[in-house]
Amino acid sequence: MGWNSWNAYSIAVDETKIKDAADMLVETGMRDAGYEFLVVDDTWMAEDLADDGRFEPHPEDFPSGIADLAEYVHDRGLKFGIYSSAGTETCAGYPASIGNERLHAEQFAEWGVDYLKYDNCGDHRGRDALDRYAAMGEALAEVDREIVYAICEWGDNEPWEWARNAGGQLWRTTGDILPKWRATEDDAYGLGVVEIVDEMADPQIARANGPDGWNDPDMLHVGNGPGSGQAQLDDLDVSEEFPEVEQRTHFSFWCLWSAPLMAGNDLREMDATTKAILTNEDAIAIDQDPLGVQGTRDRVYGDREVWSKPLADRGAAVILFNRGEREVEIETHVEEIDLAAEADEYRVEDVWSDESWTTSDEIGSVVEPHGVAFYRVGPA
Ligand code: GLA
Repeated sequence: MGWNSWNAYSIAVDETKIKDAADMLVETGMRDAGYEFLVVDDTWMAEDLADDGRFEPHPEDFPSGIADLAEYVHDRGLKFGIYSSAGTETCAGYPASIGNERLHAEQFAEWGVDYLKYDNCGDHRGRDALDRYAAMGEALAEVDREIVYAICEWGDNEPWEWARNAGGQLWRTTGDILPKWRATEDDAYGLGVVEIVDEMADPQIARANGPDGWNDPDMLHVGNGPGSGQAQLDDLDVSEEFPEVEQRTHFSFWCLWSAPLMAGNDLREMDATTKAILTNEDAIAIDQDPLGVQGTRDRVYGDREVWSKPLADRGAAVILFNRGEREVEIETHVEEIDLAAEADEYRVEDVWSDESWTTSDEIGSVVEPHGVAFYRVGPA
């Protein structure tokens, strides 16, 4: 769990915003809710590598340097992450790490970096994905510092099959998320939330998940909309607000999948609704459940879907999902979901309303369009 600069600020990131984000993670209670890694995404580096191949920080945007910034972040009880790419350039056109993996891994370690997001842009110099990603994985394993390795090749080469062997602790399964339900042809790239839901329904992907490596369906867009940096600064068609109901669906699925939770909102402007979603303790407990299973789709009937995953306490987490445009009633029962415990009565806890009740069999709810009911179920 953490926060990454991209969705909030895109290419307009600088050290003041990162220091503010570190302060805000503490002040808002996000750090204490579990959001621990603060990751600076693309454009932190100068336009060229130094003559010896090392990175230099962007002189105007990061004048104090990265070691200084890492220290500021560490002083607030957080971990510090950074970004590069397994090619000649980052996606925003800055220099990246291919051919300099060892040098850069050493530099990250010297700076006090705890997390590397490693992207797939630039020229690959004819090397395949496994080769390029394993080179950085090996370089990170050799430095004298624990650095979480986040592979970001967008699911292009089925990384769930090989990213663990390349040293990755998490790997993107899918393209870039947008703060909306569905992408249109006017979006230069990206996927809406429901499109990621459909890609993550693939059992081949699901079975690769956890607890020693994680499918990453991309960062959170909770709290974002047309005003967020990515929407403003990239060639995207994000003109409408991202409705709260869709944001809750987004967050619920990420938790059901045991996905990395990387917030991406401007923490200086976080409103109560956004904070309530991002810091919901029951949702986070489902996300962080020790079994680390990615919840799967149990049944589809028209626009109604039932999803679930087993939990370490032999209970289950359940999503009743309405992908349609009108309110519907969705029902499941205890035999249908991934529930190991057997009992006469089960307790159903509603993650979003905080209500709970008991049932011997049926679990159902009226669900609004694009909405979910999100439950934790266990013996009463
Ligand atoms: C790619 C990644 C994004 C972000 C941008 C930065 O698109 O998938 O998450 O890091 O690059 O340029």
